[in-house]
Amino acid sequence: MTLADFEPQRPAMHFAPPMGWMNDPNGLVFFEGEYHLFYQYHPFSTVWGPMHWGHAVSRDLCHWQHLPIALAPNEDGTCFSGSAVVDEHDVTGLFEGQPGLLAFYTCHKVLSGDPEDYQQSQCLAYSRDKGRTWQRYAGNPVLPPPGFKDVRDPKVVWHGPSQRWVMALACGQAIHFYTSHDLLAWQFASAFGEGEGAHTQHPWECPDLFELPVDGAGPNEPATRWVLVVGIGATPDNPFGSLTQYFIGAFDGQRFTNDNTADVVLMMDEGRDFYAVQSWSNTPGRQLALAWLNNWQYANQAPETGWRGTMSLPRELTLRATSRGVRLRQRFAREAGQVLSAPCHLSPRTLQTAGEHCIVVPDGEVIHGQLTLVLEAGTRLALSLQQGSQQRLWLTASDAETLLHYERQGRIGQAAFDEYFACDHAAGSVDGLTVTVTWWCDHGTLEMLVDGATEQRSITQVSFVDHRRQPVTLDVVSGRVEVAEGVIQSVVE
Ligand code: FRU
Repeated sequence: MTLADFEPQRPAMHFAPPMGWMNDPNGLVFFEGEYHLFYQYHPFSTVWGPMHWGHAVSRDLCHWQHLPIALAPNEDGTCFSGSAVVDEHDVTGLFEGQPGLLAFYTCHKVLSGDPEDYQQSQCLAYSRDKGRTWQRYAGNPVLPPPGFKDVRDPKVVWHGPSQRWVMALACGQAIHFYTSHDLLAWQFASAFGEGEGAHTQHPWECPDLFELPVDGAGPNEPATRWVLVVGIGATPDNPFGSLTQYFIGAFDGQRFTNDNTADVVLMMDEGRDFYAVQSWSNTPGRQLALAWLNNWQYANQAPETGWRGTMSLPRELTLRATSRGVRLRQRFAREAGQVLSAPCHLSPRTLQTAGEHCIVVPDGEVIHGQLTLVLEAGTRLALSLQQGSQQRLWLTASDAETLLHYERQGRIGQAAFDEYFACDHAAGSVDGLTVTVTWWCDHGTLEMLVDGATEQRSITQVSFVDHRRQPVTLDVVSGRVEVAEGVIQSVVE
């Protein structure tokens, strides 16, 4: 018997807590050969509660070692989301001239018997022993409560041109930027967001900010752009629940300027379960990020066996010039390749008969696959990678683009959960009629990247099914599709 026999939902490749509740990734930082992953953690229950920072480390982004809780609630409050950086040159003076780790988190304090009566401030903790133990900074809070309630999730980044640290902070329906020379004293610089992109009644959450080169930029276009990632909070009136949007623009160290008009909404993922995205600090040469693979609309009711919450696989983010402008592009971090079996190549075939066609029945519990489909204009088909017709990606080829639509049925049998879990919605489009779907199925999770000629859509879903030997099928409704290339691999460890 293996652990999987007792916990069929527990993913093998994805990070999940040993027990208890987990939500957002926090404090992602690479330091002295280790990728640190802290996370919002309630160790004593499988529902959200007083927040701790759980902690794990990995040397290869595949195998994670659980470590003791890094931060626990105290008389000042509980520990909400935040980020970590390396203080390489000891500008804080907290590390006796050596490099050390700093964690910026939101201190959440409930002021009365009403849980909605709270204040939030930004605090600092530091570690002199590679993240194994943490002390709270004596000068906390580094940013006191501002007089309005929702101000949280500090993401601290280095801005080279102005030689300053920048903190992006979610403040109501905006992101506020602060700057600092010493990571201790912070000055307000600017606010971005009112009227820009997507808003709900819920405050914005979990910002991230980074600069990336633009693949395919023309000679007269800027070689790099800044990306501002923002979580759109779940509200009962919004059927989608928690979503992650991003803005492309310029950042001069003080102010973010949107390249697009305010009404343009760019989604980082078109599925339902990709929230609180955070990128790793201090990974020169590539921008790695992961997300909480869940949605506040049902996270607390989802099936569980002693633990709740999964992270997405680590992904590498890049920017690409497309006909619609600069867009984020993702790929699964290459490290995952080291645990995969030799590739099994599928023989190319053309399907032009309406009906369901089985492409392959993968052998293994954790599957990585890639299919390239060439669609004739007017073709409509559904691709199932897991759970047969209960979870399908619909592709409809028009003349110049392929429209995507996602469908997930709710048959888990828990009324409160199924009410929001079932979904059937447009998932954007990609340019061209040749589409490559790259995916990972790991027990109750399905992560898909759908590439067109230059555009890409990410679709991330939880399914809460045990994934063993589930066929990959194409259900052709009309038209003709060529399965031009296909590769399937399974995890061999
Ligand atoms: C996002 C969030 C954050 C907050 C944390 C609390 O999922 O609501 O804004 O810091 O979760 O656990």
